[in-house]
Amino acid sequence: MNRFSSLTISKHVLKNRLVVAPMASQTSTLDGKVTDKTLRHYANLAQSQAGLVMVEYSFVAFSGRSEPNQLGVHDDDCIAGITAIAKAIHQAGAKAGLQLTHCGGKAQLDVCPDLMGPSGITVPAYDRILPTPKMMTLNDIAVLKKQFIDAAKRVELAGFDFVELHCAHGYGLNQFLSPLTNQRDDQYGGSQRNRARLIVEIIEQIKQQTQLSIMVRVPGQDLYPQGLTQMQIVESCEYFIDAGVVILDVSSGIGGWNRPKERRGEGFLVEEAAYLKQAGLQACIIGVGGIETANYIDTAIENQWLDLAAVGRAILKGPQAFAENVMMNGINQ
Ligand SMILES: Cc1cc2nc3c(=O)[nH]c(=O)nc-3n(C[C@H](O)[C@H](O)[C@H](O)COP(=O)(O)O)c2cc1C
Repeated sequence: MNRFSSLTISKHVLKNRLVVAPMASQTSTLDGKVTDKTLRHYANLAQSQAGLVMVEYSFVAFSGRSEPNQLGVHDDDCIAGITAIAKAIHQAGAKAGLQLTHCGGKAQLDVCPDLMGPSGITVPAYDRILPTPKMMTLNDIAVLKKQFIDAAKRVELAGFDFVELHCAHGYGLNQFLSPLTNQRDDQYGGSQRNRARLIVEIIEQIKQQTQLSIMVRVPGQDLYPQGLTQMQIVESCEYFIDAGVVILDVSSGIGGWNRPKERRGEGFLVEEAAYLKQAGLQACIIGVGGIETANYIDTAIENQWLDLAAVGRAILKGPQAFAENVMMNGINQ
């Protein structure tokens, strides 16, 4: 097996092991609609020859935006635009996935004036001091759940193959999973099962109400002191898989997606993916972090550190060049 091996996941055949990682393009209108620039961007990324192209974090509610010009899936008017993205990706021979997000307590007040999180705890971040969010009521949680489910239905109507819940990088669903930011004493806090409950409920409903294949982007660990451990993530992933998840996309947590200071070289988060692979979880595993060569991808597959390799910046800087260097010849380099 190597980077060219196809992979069947539920009803989808991925033509190879390369995934374009979700990357915010900041090309949408201020109310989250797709522009011509967004369409050209995804048509371009699909030239990488990846088997799966992920569309950037897209907000499920306007009040859950993280930044201006972020893509939205928050109302039915968004469907036409994202349908065109899915078409552009399919035309290049790739499967299409879209990532759903809500900022929870991780945003600035000018973008998200009603910041809210599971416990009203300031989300720790390495690069900035965030405002303190209000604590969500059970009704707020029910509303958030419905927003994710409704957004997933729009993703299905738009013709995507996969939908991904963004449970990493410190955003809203990560805040529910993490003991740092979730100190609730009801059914959504206390134990890891309870901290995973909201995500499990969303997955169950998406599975019931759509035909989409469901992915979660999870932290391999929070990579923040006293944050989520690798063991807690394994436990959470077991619940997610029982609920219907078929791909675990393993990134980082509360600390954000950047390379941790002490990590060097290609695959800077792949040891977290390998940990989940070794735990024997019954889902395909995506690893990420500074991956840019054919040799690294093949080695990671051969050693069973991951099933699929996600590449972000190396594709962003030149999808066609990436395809020529890494995906258009059978020679390891
Ligand atoms: C410009 C940019 C935007 C990003 N936006 C997202 C995003 O929308 N959702 C997400 O989960 N990760 C996002 N990331 C993180 C990437 O998906 C990926 O995990 C990270 O860049 C590490 O991979 P790389 O070293 O191959 O770039 C973004 C990264 C970059 C560079």
